[in-house]
Amino acid sequence: MTSVNAPRAIVIVGGGLMGSGIAQVFAAAGHDVTVVEPTATVRDTIRPRIAADLRLFGRDEALADAVTITDDLASAVTGADYVTEAAPEKLELKRAIFAELVRHAPHAAILASNTSVIPIHTIAAGLPTAERIVGTHWWNPAGLIPLVEVVQSTRTSPATIATTMQLLASIGKAPAHVTKDLPGFVANRLQHALWREAIAMVAEGICDAATLDACVKNSFGLRLAVLGPLENADLVGLDLTLDIHKTIIPELDRLDRPNPYLEAQVAAGRLGFKSGEGFRRWTPEEMTAVRERLASHLLAAQRPCSKP
Ligand SMILES: NC(=O)c1ccc[n+]([C@@H]2O[C@H](COP(=O)([O-])OP(=O)(O)OC[C@H]3O[C@@H](n4cnc5c(N)ncnc54)[C@H](O)[C@@H]3O)[C@@H](O)[C@H]2O)c1
Repeated sequence: MTSVNAPRAIVIVGGGLMGSGIAQVFAAAGHDVTVVEPTATVRDTIRPRIAADLRLFGRDEALADAVTITDDLASAVTGADYVTEAAPEKLELKRAIFAELVRHAPHAAILASNTSVIPIHTIAAGLPTAERIVGTHWWNPAGLIPLVEVVQSTRTSPATIATTMQLLASIGKAPAHVTKDLPGFVANRLQHALWREAIAMVAEGICDAATLDACVKNSFGLRLAVLGPLENADLVGLDLTLDIHKTIIPELDRLDRPNPYLEAQVAAGRLGFKSGEGFRRWTPEEMTAVRERLASHLLAAQRPCSKP
């Protein structure tokens, strides 16, 4: 396979939350963008959602009109240089989509998955031309979070990685090359290690959910955007870090499955914003306020991407 060095024609498979966000970023950077979405009601919302994002980011919302929307995957990918799959997080569905992509996309096209946690080699298993299959894990909201993890399976070629890193950097993202194809890659492993301990502490009654969130937001949460955890360990000293670990590591949660407290919440229908109650009860006004607070914080935090 010879990959396209500077992909122009971008196809996004799945026009939900992430697909439309990723489409917006590529469209804003001047690429030809097509979104493939099987559900008619969702298709009708894609351009308005892209336009709303462009407006929020101070870009020309007319760029949304240039995005092609279709339900025909085979035709859409015929002229694709770079395809990003953003369909639901179900392995068999993603495998079926990639089989179609391999069949219909040009041999030079790169095929990327936006899976949150599924190893790329399991999506590519049994498929020919797996050297062009790569993970590109974007974060929500795609227009505001710089990181895209670029996940290399044992079969992904260096050329695919190089083109992907260049493409993402050229549209203003901060791509990070992840060389081991493990569930959750890097950032979700870290995020969910924190969530595991947070849920265990609430389940143990050490504090309530609001107190726990306040502890994070008013302490190391403030530092994290400018000081990575290992930079921080160097800053305070590894000798101090070791002394702290001698006491705390044996105490941390080590369940090797989801916490039964979380399972009970889900079984009781307490799903969070979706049902109005999760770890806490939420009024519609409170939910809107949380979303607005997050968007305005991320907008204010926009800055040139940090180098790794
Ligand atoms: N939501 C997040 O915060 C987030 C962040 C990073 C990565 N992801 C990952 O991105 C992917 C998409 O997540 P989302 O939150 O956008 O989900 P979503 O449910 O909002 O969107 C998925 C879309 O894919 C469509 N779809 C279903 N079957 C399809 C098919 N065969 N071909 C094409 N499209 C199809 C659905 O109709 C839906 O519109 C998942 O793998 C998810 O794990 C999500």
